[in-house]
Amino acid sequence: MSLDTTSLKLNKEVEDAADFLPLLGTDYVELYVGNAKQAAHYYQSAWGFQPMAYSGLETGVKDRVSYVLQQDKIRLVLTSPLTEGGEINRHIEKHGDGVKVIALWVDDAVKSYKETTSRGAKSYMEPKTLKDENGEVVLSGIHTYGETVHVFVERSNYKGAFMPGFKAWNPQYKTAETGLKFIDHMVGNVGWDEMRKWCEFYAKVMGFAQLVSFDDKDISTDYTALMSKVMSNGNGRIKFPINEPAEGKKKSQIEEYIEFYNGAGVQHIALATDNIIETVKQLKSRGVEFLYVPETYYDTVLDRVGEIDEDLAPLKELGILIDRDDEGYLLQLFTKPVLDRPTMFFEIIQRKGAKSFGKGNFKALFEAIEREQEMRGTL
Ligand code: FE2
Repeated sequence: MSLDTTSLKLNKEVEDAADFLPLLGTDYVELYVGNAKQAAHYYQSAWGFQPMAYSGLETGVKDRVSYVLQQDKIRLVLTSPLTEGGEINRHIEKHGDGVKVIALWVDDAVKSYKETTSRGAKSYMEPKTLKDENGEVVLSGIHTYGETVHVFVERSNYKGAFMPGFKAWNPQYKTAETGLKFIDHMVGNVGWDEMRKWCEFYAKVMGFAQLVSFDDKDISTDYTALMSKVMSNGNGRIKFPINEPAEGKKKSQIEEYIEFYNGAGVQHIALATDNIIETVKQLKSRGVEFLYVPETYYDTVLDRVGEIDEDLAPLKELGILIDRDDEGYLLQLFTKPVLDRPTMFFEIIQRKGAKSFGKGNFKALFEAIEREQEMRGTL
């Protein structure tokens, strides 16, 4: 099938996606971490996130502490337990630091809960209303792959810092932003032969449609392989690619993730910028580590992607990857895992018309990831 036919078919599918679950955007991403205070400092100092809200002993919460940070439309919540035992400690012991909640911004959290649970979603949180002097927030939640959950957040009647239970967090230490704007997509790794099941979950339970499909031939290298499908909601604001491992000569990077995370979970969060060269320069100068891209990649890249607006020199210097589809091109780059275990990482992406996810870069990327795996002795 030619690329043109494929994308026509895709657009039709997206239009047909039954929008019984209108999503306004990603509300926040919550990570359970071993030390939220220090993690918050990392996201401030290295990534330029701005302090926003806090919850803990000082706000009457006895068992956990949470820091909320924001950069443009991206909101991170970092949560650590304050006491022995309990769900958060168990989660961290099993998975290490990682994403627990992908929160979705909705107009009606009660309806979102009913629409999804009636279609088979497993309940995580029955609808509840939190109130304080700034108004109210309605929350509900369902389980998705692994121990990851979606929380639906209805906040149209709230004027406070984040939500009831939090107070504004305004420390003296502030850093400049790095040009990150919004979450472009969030990728889940699931186990062997589980991709179809989870794509069906997003289709049936949440009304998503499939955007693009890669087969393992497209993205296998000598040693590693995966299968990937991209699920998108009706208005295209939420895109969840789902990966499963495929057979290769050696261990798939998806398998390595599943082993260290002890199950399915969020593999990477792609953050959009409208000036990737400046953003990546900033991030590098603040200590964010990116995957090494072989210089030879740039010898042939323009033959593959054609003309681009940017000079090749700074892209090569920073190791930024380029890919093209029939609607335009994109620039992207991947960090090394940002946690102790080789699990979650970030992608920085700038779209210049392209709506795809860098399929042409997968091989170059995987070869780079394999060099890293080799150094860890897990290939
Ligand atoms: Fe991605």
